[in-house]
Amino acid sequence: MKSTTIILSITLALLLSFHGIVLLTNENFLQCLSVHSEDTSISEVIYTQDNPLYSSILDFSKQNLLFRAPKYPKPQVIIKPFHVSQIQTVLKCSQKHGLQIRVRSGGHDSEGLSYTSEVPFVMIDLINLSSINVDAEKKTAWVQAGATLGQLYYRIAEKSKILGFPAGVCPTVGVGGHFSGGGYGYVMRKFGLSADQVVDAHLIDVRGRILDRKSMGEDLFWAIRGGGAASFGIIVAWKVNLVTVPSTVTAFTVTRTLENNATKILDKYQYVADKLPEDLVISATFRAVSLSNTKKKGTIMCSFSSLFLGGVDRLLPLMQERFPDLGLTKEDCKEMSWIESAIYLSGLQASEPYKLEALLDRNYSKSFFKEKSDYVREPIPVKGFEGMYDLLYEKGGHNIQVVIFPYGGKMSEISESAIPFPHRAGNIYYLLYFAVWEKEEESQNALKLVTKMYNYMTPYASKNPRAAYLNDKDLEIGRNNKGDTHTSIKKASIWGNKYFMNNFNKLVDVKTMVDPDNFFRNEQSIPSRSSSY
Ligand SMILES: Cc1cc2nc3c(=O)[nH]c(=O)nc-3n(C[C@H](O)[C@H](O)[C@H](O)COP(=O)(O)OP(=O)(O)OC[C@H]3O[C@@H](n4cnc5c(N)ncnc54)[C@H](O)[C@@H]3O)c2cc1C
Ligand SMILES: *[C@@H]1O[C@H](CO)[C@@H](O)[C@H](O)[C@H]1NC(C)=O
Ligand SMILES: *[C@@H]1O[C@H](CO)[C@@H](O)[C@H](O)[C@H]1NC(C)=O
Ligand SMILES: *[C@@H]1O[C@H](CO)[C@@H](O)[C@H](O)[C@H]1NC(C)=O
Repeated sequence: MKSTTIILSITLALLLSFHGIVLLTNENFLQCLSVHSEDTSISEVIYTQDNPLYSSILDFSKQNLLFRAPKYPKPQVIIKPFHVSQIQTVLKCSQKHGLQIRVRSGGHDSEGLSYTSEVPFVMIDLINLSSINVDAEKKTAWVQAGATLGQLYYRIAEKSKILGFPAGVCPTVGVGGHFSGGGYGYVMRKFGLSADQVVDAHLIDVRGRILDRKSMGEDLFWAIRGGGAASFGIIVAWKVNLVTVPSTVTAFTVTRTLENNATKILDKYQYVADKLPEDLVISATFRAVSLSNTKKKGTIMCSFSSLFLGGVDRLLPLMQERFPDLGLTKEDCKEMSWIESAIYLSGLQASEPYKLEALLDRNYSKSFFKEKSDYVREPIPVKGFEGMYDLLYEKGGHNIQVVIFPYGGKMSEISESAIPFPHRAGNIYYLLYFAVWEKEEESQNALKLVTKMYNYMTPYASKNPRAAYLNDKDLEIGRNNKGDTHTSIKKASIWGNKYFMNNFNKLVDVKTMVDPDNFFRNEQSIPSRSSSY
């Protein structure tokens, strides 16, 4: 009895003093900001937890509602810089006062790593560093790291109807995370990933210097294009090459259920999608839907969505020759401009006329979600799909979508080591298990089911390693049986080999060179050989 009381009071004292240290750290940190800042306006971009705007700023780009739960720690302080010098000041003071930094661009990280952390931290929200400078003549653009894909697409289209950029489908995804992890979308079979088109960058390194491609050197410049910039520094801006697109493109979405031969079409799809001309990307998404008019368990609905860089006259005969099983008709197809296709494929607006300004909006409704990814090198047999359907029919299974994006084309032509993103030739397609749900009480079941699906898929997915896409960040793939995460090199290689394959070691080399003490770190950041963190 007595010893319990003593232990309790010691624990309490430790807790209180920890709390005291945190408060003191904050105090010192804030003081440091004002002292070190040559820019007197820094006080206007600091939001402490007692600021009435703190919560709305934090939640605005918290795209995954899972991480609104109180158990996920919030930043001690949020900084919303307008000037690059303010980031440098924050970096200096964080280092001095033992606070970690999390940088947020679009806030889509599926594990919330841009705005949660187990250790006391400062969040830098780049939302107001989002200017975009398009040079239509040179076909390049400088894009600040806080910009979204929708903003980039919009600004390109403002300048030219025949320029575009290869990046993702969801307009609110930020270029800060997206480009530094790869970035795929409907023109990747023609132009590769976003990261493949990055030609320069401005990065703040651990010493607070602003580096460009030349001053950072080719190794660091290599690492930030697919290796996840969060391990190496803070990206301020990217310079990208724009790509030429036809003034008229064609898009379609065709939906088939099991009753309409969905499985047969899906099976056939696996053999053709990665071998089609590179002007054509057809994605496939399937999920379970319930049928109110029958007593059956429901059906599977598979949507084939596509973008073709050309007119419908060329698309129809091509589809008739290469993929007649889909039964595409002229009525299924819509001709439009490339920028309209960005809206159409995002699913933001169901029908014309498309309001292009929707691409600038950063505030769409948010949901709970979980992502897991796989790469497929051999077609999955029909019984494999049928087993997936069974899981989709389980309770809560309607929350899971299985998304397929075919590779081949340009994706196969780029070498596995050109940038850290290694998933190139040999992959017929990429698979995303995307669980999305609306109510908190569904979370546990949804998370359990998506893991069950992933385990079920083991025989059909790539092996040694079972490859995964960094931008579908998944802390589970780095956990050992005890369920904890690790950052030491051997343990990091569990997830590192999956995301980066043979590029993992070079990423560790670069990390060791540019951030030996591992200041820039998170639950799945590249470890340094000279740090035990
Ligand atoms: C609904 C949805 C749709 C998606 N669609 C696609 C798609 O079509 N194609 C695709 O490839 N991916 C897609 N993704 C995945 C997306 O590419 C990744 O989640 C990406 O990392 C998000 O970038 P962000 O800036 O929005 O996220 P954030 O959460 O802001 O950042 C992600 C990571 O990058 C770091 N980071 C952000 N900015 C910087 C910076 N300036 N400097 C250093 N580190 C930084 C963060 O700290 C964090 O670790 C989708 C995700 C969602 C949720
Ligand atoms: C900062 O970004 C927010 C969100 O996009 C925007 O509403 C606001 O106007 C911006 N502030 C300035 C001063 O640009
Ligand atoms: C399904 O495929 C069969 C056999 O190829 C074909 O006869 C039938 O018309 C198809 N059904 C639909 C709805 O397309
Ligand atoms: C964002 O959208 C939500 C829900 O529609 C709304 O409540 C909120 O006020 C919006 N935030 C801003 C800053 O516009």
